[in-house]
Amino acid sequence: MTDLETIVSDAKAAFGATTTPADLENAKALFLGKSGRITELMKGMAQLSVDEKKSRGAAINLSKQAIEAALSDRRQALADAELQKQLKAEALDVSLPGRQRAQGGLHPVSLTLERIEAIFGSMGFDVAQGPEIETDWFNFTALNTPEDHPARSMHDTFYVEGGTQAAPNLLRTHTSPMQIRYAVQHVKKHRALIDAGKSNEGAFTGSMPEIRVIAPGRTYRVDSDATHSPMFHQCEGLWIGENVSFKDLKFVFTDFCRTFFESDDLVLRFRPSFFPFTEPSAEIDIQFSSGPLAGKWLEVAGSGQVHPNVVRNMGLDPEKYIGFAFGMGPDRLTMLRYGVNDLRLFFDGDIRFLSQFQN
Ligand code: DAH
Repeated sequence: MTDLETIVSDAKAAFGATTTPADLENAKALFLGKSGRITELMKGMAQLSVDEKKSRGAAINLSKQAIEAALSDRRQALADAELQKQLKAEALDVSLPGRQRAQGGLHPVSLTLERIEAIFGSMGFDVAQGPEIETDWFNFTALNTPEDHPARSMHDTFYVEGGTQAAPNLLRTHTSPMQIRYAVQHVKKHRALIDAGKSNEGAFTGSMPEIRVIAPGRTYRVDSDATHSPMFHQCEGLWIGENVSFKDLKFVFTDFCRTFFESDDLVLRFRPSFFPFTEPSAEIDIQFSSGPLAGKWLEVAGSGQVHPNVVRNMGLDPEKYIGFAFGMGPDRLTMLRYGVNDLRLFFDGDIRFLSQFQN
């Protein structure tokens, strides 16, 4: 092997051994740099004759070109390898199925509450929210259920810190306290009109705009079986004016039930009952004419004409203001609407069960 052939083969080996562009540039310097082996050979030509210079020069040039070619091949190879590495690291398998984002949905009881609000909203009822931790006054006493009233025993609940022994705080056992809370606010707002005995709002020509409200929300009792959960929902309804009667209750509630269940031939029965805050009082039962529950009477709400003592606690004169109230169970309505017979399923939080009610 001539000295030039050796240099070329050394250069190829040196370049081939490099793994990074920086290494390759260092290797290049050994051959083509200022004091590289080829450069040194060029410098050595100074002593040669003109003819020798020609042939030696041409030979060195060929070797130099061969080294430069090897260098650029290696550069390309390293760049390709780097690209491949990068592509592999950022590999994207376009044949993989797309990542799905789980679609949330409303709880079946929330769907019922929305439905109730929409239907009563269309009848001009306001929707009010109230506290779940109540005072003894709003939950019981103001609703004509004084301490030691036997009706309290059906509303055993959870007492919470806060309040006093004479007026403890408790988890509300029903949404009925919202009757008082809402009415008191309403009366406060319209006190001047009430006192002046005239109204400038709406078509109502009495001394105060009517109270027409529903109050849905969570309620609590010490109770747990297939049809009772310690936390459950209620929706209160209240309509007070100067000439609101039981007849209006019948009309409104029948209309509501038929719309809610999308059944025009659904029938209602008002069964005499007792609640301390209404007189007279009635349980409302419904009966479907078709479907699996056809012919059975199903209780859906308590109701009645608001008791004069309750009207008084609202800040109104019971001689002048009269109306009705009802309290229904949205959980029960949801069970009936979807044909579910165990209430606990709604509150177990099992997505497989809950995802079946998305409409
Ligand atoms: N609050 C009653 C309960 O939980 C239900 C009820 C009955 C509400 C009659 C009313 C009513 O407003 O008039 O059992």
